[in-house]
Amino acid sequence: MCGIFGQIAAGAVSNTVKALKYLEYRGYDSAGLALRRGDCLEMYKTEGRIATLERIVDGIDEATVAIGHTRWATHGAVSTANAHPFLSEDGNFAIVHNGIIENYRELKALLPQVKFTSQTDSETVAHLLRQNYRGDVLQTVLTTARMLKGSFAIAVLSVYGDKLYAVRNKSPLVVGFSSNGAYLCSDIRCISHWATSVAVAPDNAVAEIGKNGAKFFRLDGTPVDVKFFAPPRAEETESFEGDFMLKEIFEIPAKLRQAKRNYVERGGLSLDADTVRRLKRIYLIGCGTAYHSGLAVAAVARKFIDADVIPVVASEFIYDNYPVDGDTLAFLISQSGETADTVRAAERVTESGGLTYAVTNTDSSSLTFKCDNCVNICADGEFAVASTKAYNCQIAVLTMLFADIALLRGTLSAKKHNAIFREIDGLPFAVEQILDESYRIAQLAEEVAHSSAVFFIGRTTDYPTACEGSLKLKEISYIHSEAYPAGELKHGTLALMERSVTVVAISTDPALRDKMISSVNEVTSRGARVIAFAPYAMEGVDTFELPPTGELLYAATACVPLQLLAYYAAKSLGRDVDKPRHLAKSVTVE
Ligand code: G6P
Repeated sequence: MCGIFGQIAAGAVSNTVKALKYLEYRGYDSAGLALRRGDCLEMYKTEGRIATLERIVDGIDEATVAIGHTRWATHGAVSTANAHPFLSEDGNFAIVHNGIIENYRELKALLPQVKFTSQTDSETVAHLLRQNYRGDVLQTVLTTARMLKGSFAIAVLSVYGDKLYAVRNKSPLVVGFSSNGAYLCSDIRCISHWATSVAVAPDNAVAEIGKNGAKFFRLDGTPVDVKFFAPPRAEETESFEGDFMLKEIFEIPAKLRQAKRNYVERGGLSLDADTVRRLKRIYLIGCGTAYHSGLAVAAVARKFIDADVIPVVASEFIYDNYPVDGDTLAFLISQSGETADTVRAAERVTESGGLTYAVTNTDSSSLTFKCDNCVNICADGEFAVASTKAYNCQIAVLTMLFADIALLRGTLSAKKHNAIFREIDGLPFAVEQILDESYRIAQLAEEVAHSSAVFFIGRTTDYPTACEGSLKLKEISYIHSEAYPAGELKHGTLALMERSVTVVAISTDPALRDKMISSVNEVTSRGARVIAFAPYAMEGVDTFELPPTGELLYAATACVPLQLLAYYAAKSLGRDVDKPRHLAKSVTVE
C-alpha cells in the first residue's frame, strides 16, 4: 500500500528514488516526489513504475530536502494527476499521504475557491495547509492535523524554512537520523538504509523534523517524548536480479530453523502459568495469508487444547460480536505488523479486557506496540507482495506457542510436547526435499496455467492449506480459484466441474484418505483434471508425493508445492509475480 519517504540530507532525489524502489514491495500503481530548489518547490510524478520516475528526475540532484510517495489507488483512478505529491495552489506546500482522510468531502466544502487537480482525498490537505498558514509552519500543520479524520501518515514540505513536518494517526510512520541528516518513512527496514537511530511517531501527533533533531507534539501543541533506538538491519535488495517470490520460497528451510532457534532462545511462550490455565478462549486473528496460518494452527491445536480455539478474519472480528473478557487471549498474526484491520482487532481485544499477543515478522511495528506480548517469526524481509516464507514460520511459531500453552494446562504431556518440537526440527528437511523436486511442480503448473478455474480441496487440517494454495494462485496468476472443504463440493460446486477445470487435492491425514479418494472420484467422473498432493500415491491421478512430516505439521510443508505451483503458473502466463496487479503488501487502511 502507499509508502512515504522524506529526507533532509545531500542526494535527496537519488535517495528518495532508492527508498521508493525499496517500498515497491508494498504494491503501488504510481509514484512521485517533491523537492525544494532555492525558494521553490518542484514536483515530479507519474503513473506506473519507479523506473519511469527515475528517468524523469535524472540529473536533478542538488536538492537536500525531498518527499516521495508510492501510491496504491483508493480514491480516484490510477493516473498521473492522482499520483502524489500534491501542491497547494500557491506552490508553497507539498504533501504526500498514506491512509484515508475520511472527512475529505466536508473539508473540500471549506475550500470553495480551490480548483482541485485530482480525485483524491489527499489533495485536500495541501490546500488546507495554505488556507491555515499564518506565518508559523508548525502551528499550520497542527491546525490542519486537528481538522483531519481517518488514518494517515502525511509528510509536509514547504518553502518556509528547512524543516520537514509529519502527521501521524494510525498509519505507520518512523523518523530517523544519521550523521548525514534526517529521514522519515512508512517502513522501518527502509529507513535503516540511512538512519542509525529511529523513533516510531506516536498516534495523533505531529513531528517537526530538522536536520539534526526532531520534536514531537500532541495535536493540542503540547510536547510528547519519544524513544529513539537502533533500527533492524536493512536487507540489500537492489543488486538482486530474479524473482523475489522464488528466492523467498527457497529461503523457507533456513527461516524455519531461525524461527525455532529464536523461539527457544527467547524462552518460549513467556506467559505466567496462572494466566494460561485461566484461559477460556484463544483467538487467532489475521488477514490473507496470516489468517490462513491461524486457520491451519487452530485445526491442529484443537486436537490438544481444552480452551476454545477460534480463527477469525481481522476485519470480521472488529465488527462482529465475538466475546472477549479477562479469560481471552488473542494471537494477532501479521507479517508486516501494520495491517490496519489486525491492529484495530488488537485494540478491540484490549478495550474488552483480553490479553493480546502479536506474532509478527517486524519488531517495532504498530502491532507490537499495541500488544501485551509479541514474538518475532524471524522470516526476514519479504519483498514479493505475495507472502510465502512468513506463512511457514507463522505456522511453526504458533504451533510451538500452542504446545507450550497445552503443556501448562496439562492437556499435553511433556513427551508429546517434546515430540512436537522435534517435528519442528524436521520441517526444514522436508521442505528441502520438496524444493529439490520443484521442476516437477513447474511441469504440473503448465496445465494449471491453462485451466478455466482451479479448485483447491482438503479436509480438516488440509483445508487451510487449500485456502492458502488458492489465495497464492489467484494473487499472482489471476486465474479464478477457490478453496473448498472436500466434503462440501457435492453441495453445489460439482455443477462447475468440467474438462477445463483443475482440482488440486491435498490429502495428508491417513484417517481421511478414503474420503478424499471419493471426493477426487466425484470430480474426475465429471471431466475435471486432478493434481494431488499427498504423502502417498493416489491411484489414477497425478500425485506429488509429500515427504512424511509429523501429523500436526503438514500445513507447514504441504503449502510449499502450492506456493511453487502458483509461481510457475503465473510465470507461464507472463505475470509480474513480485508485483501483482491491485495487490498491496501492507494494507494500512481498513
Ligand atoms: C495483504 C497482502 C497479503 C497478506 C495480507 C496480510 O493482503 O497482499 O499477502 O497476507 O495483507 O498481511 P500481514 O502483513 O498482516 O501479514
